[in-house]
Amino acid sequence: MTEPMPNRWAGTMGKRWHSNYTQFEGMLSDVGDALLEFAQLAPGENILDIGFGGGATALDAARSIGPEGQLVGVDISADLVQLANERASQEGLSNARFIEADAGTVEIPDVKFDVLLSRFGVMFFEDSYAAFKNMHSLLKPGARAALAVWAPAEGNLWMSSMREIVGKYVEMPPADPRAPGPMAFSDFAYFTDILEKAGFSDISKKDWTGSLYVGGKGADPARAADFGMESQSAADMIAELPEDAKASIHAELLELATPYYNGSDVVMSGDVFFVSATA
Ligand SMILES: C[S@@+](CC[C@H](N)C(=O)[O-])C[C@H]1O[C@@H](n2cnc3c(N)ncnc32)[C@H](O)[C@@H]1O
Repeated sequence: MTEPMPNRWAGTMGKRWHSNYTQFEGMLSDVGDALLEFAQLAPGENILDIGFGGGATALDAARSIGPEGQLVGVDISADLVQLANERASQEGLSNARFIEADAGTVEIPDVKFDVLLSRFGVMFFEDSYAAFKNMHSLLKPGARAALAVWAPAEGNLWMSSMREIVGKYVEMPPADPRAPGPMAFSDFAYFTDILEKAGFSDISKKDWTGSLYVGGKGADPARAADFGMESQSAADMIAELPEDAKASIHAELLELATPYYNGSDVVMSGDVFFVSATA
């Protein structure tokens, strides 16, 4: 039986993100820049970053709010919490701290936040209605949310095609658009309902289409294909396949990536919703 998604992030999925974080962060760098522009963080603000992964967006946010502001990151993976705290201290960012907790239930008694920020970290709750109520309770009245979530699969060929290829070889769970997972909020009406019931108002989205650097910046198609095999939620199942099946998946992923190689990166298009709301 598949473990519930949050548990998998606390375990194998978090470890996988940790091992590949430079590739993930390279891949998502344009999304992160656009999200921070969307969020319009100001010096002195308190920011709550949910599901910060390796911490790239959170660390950028901490830089932009200056020493008067505070950045608190919440992530369910102990490995990622340790990594982000190390990165913050290496960079001398004393206004950033990262805590291990489920954002759906975490309590942070010593600070109230001006901004709820997340790049792809809020789609993994078993009960999103309860989780967003909890996150809302951590915000100051009138605070804003700036959240990046994946738009429908049609605009994210890299994800849908990889899933299709891998699905030929391993049994993938049926695509349930509202189940915890990357596409959980690709139905904006559903996400709006969750936010409204949590107490948010003025909910709107900006559609963003931009570049995803598959396998990270500087990855060639072979490296992008390696990344496709190692980084997905099905990676453990792929690892257990016979060698000829693994070779076939790699060959198909290579064929997918090759036309998108521009000589330095494998660049595929991604569709993202940047969602804003007022607490
Ligand atoms: C797709 S990754 C995004 C990481 C990072 N925001 C980025 O864009 O590089 C999702 C992150 O959400 C975290 N996560 C998943 N469920 C969570 C939960 N219930 N509470 C807190 N963090 C969670 C995972 O551990 C992971 O770091």
